[in-house]
Amino acid sequence: MKINEFDVETWMTEHETHCQYNLTETCVSSLSLNDLQKYTDEDITSTIMNITMDYGPIVGSSRLKKAILSLYETGHEENITMAHGAINANELVIISLLEPGDHIVSLFPSYQQMYDFPRSLGCEVSLVVLDEEKNWMPSIEDFQKVMKSNTKMICLNSPNNPTGTCFSLDFMKELIDLAQQYDCYILCDEIYRGVNTVTKQLSPSFSDYYDKAIVTQSLSKVFSFAGLRLGWIKGPSDVIQTIDLRRDYHIISNGPLDDYLGCIVLENKDKIIERSLNICEKNKELLKEWLENEPLVSCVIPDEGTVCFLKYHVNMPSKEFCLKLQEETGIFFVPGSAFGVENHLRFGFTHDYEYVKEGLTTFSKWLNQFR
Ligand SMILES: Cc1ncc(COP(=O)(O)O)c(C=O)c1O
Repeated sequence: MKINEFDVETWMTEHETHCQYNLTETCVSSLSLNDLQKYTDEDITSTIMNITMDYGPIVGSSRLKKAILSLYETGHEENITMAHGAINANELVIISLLEPGDHIVSLFPSYQQMYDFPRSLGCEVSLVVLDEEKNWMPSIEDFQKVMKSNTKMICLNSPNNPTGTCFSLDFMKELIDLAQQYDCYILCDEIYRGVNTVTKQLSPSFSDYYDKAIVTQSLSKVFSFAGLRLGWIKGPSDVIQTIDLRRDYHIISNGPLDDYLGCIVLENKDKIIERSLNICEKNKELLKEWLENEPLVSCVIPDEGTVCFLKYHVNMPSKEFCLKLQEETGIFFVPGSAFGVENHLRFGFTHDYEYVKEGLTTFSKWLNQFR
């Protein structure tokens, strides 16, 4: 099976460990187990020291599934199955439901797994190209134009990495109407759901509005626990059963430690999300102020998610730009080219305010050479 290199992940692996200012991080400042202990009265250390290290609950414990369901308006335990992060959740959905020759629709730019993984399985892919001039928001006509009689799945990421594009409930309903006409699935990677700095509410999930919607999520981004590698899939029970058959070949289980700690994270979700919202909100304000004084960079700042896509007005390819910037200042970005779009940089609202402020000030000083 031939597959294109996963450009974002390759770039991150090569460059993220030796930087001074990581301004591209997508996970809200990660937490430790000591931090988690502060959110709960349960004695985490004593519990984990007494857990028997068998495979644990194979498809996730009932406690964990109940905690996951608290993020949605509908659903039962049979609508959930567990995965190793959202990346494995997406993989399991795609590999379980798609076959060579199926047609899928995806966004561009977006998380490459959503279009290049189906492509590697022999699916035909049509892309809905997001336009910065339209605030990175597609129209329903953009989707109508690319639908085909054999469209099996619309593969979305909302809020989107890297643009932050997030669908309103009205737009979601229009998309669902369209999907219904073609009897096709909607897969939405909702990993960045939870930090809407305008409504401060949990945004709607496709899985609460469409009986052929499958959504994926994990603890990595807004819950600040990427190290647990705990992701899940929510969907119709027959689809979950199909995925579980595949799952047996891929992961067996998440293990009892991750299952238990996942429960503690999600049972304290309100406090953790409040912290994440706070961090993202402060960084968005900071970025807005910085942009007002930085004519060489512009950006559509999204309402939700932990990332946005900065446009820089310097005539230099984005890989070269990022390498030079990191070498000369220690500032690390993912270049737009890793998402197939030149002259852009992915920015994350995820680090501590002072760290981001220092990073942006250093970035402006470096940009002086291009004025
Ligand atoms: C849209 C999207 N989906 C999935 C992932 C992978 O997340 P996880 O750590 O849950 O596997 C990422 C990571 O950056 C992402 O941006």
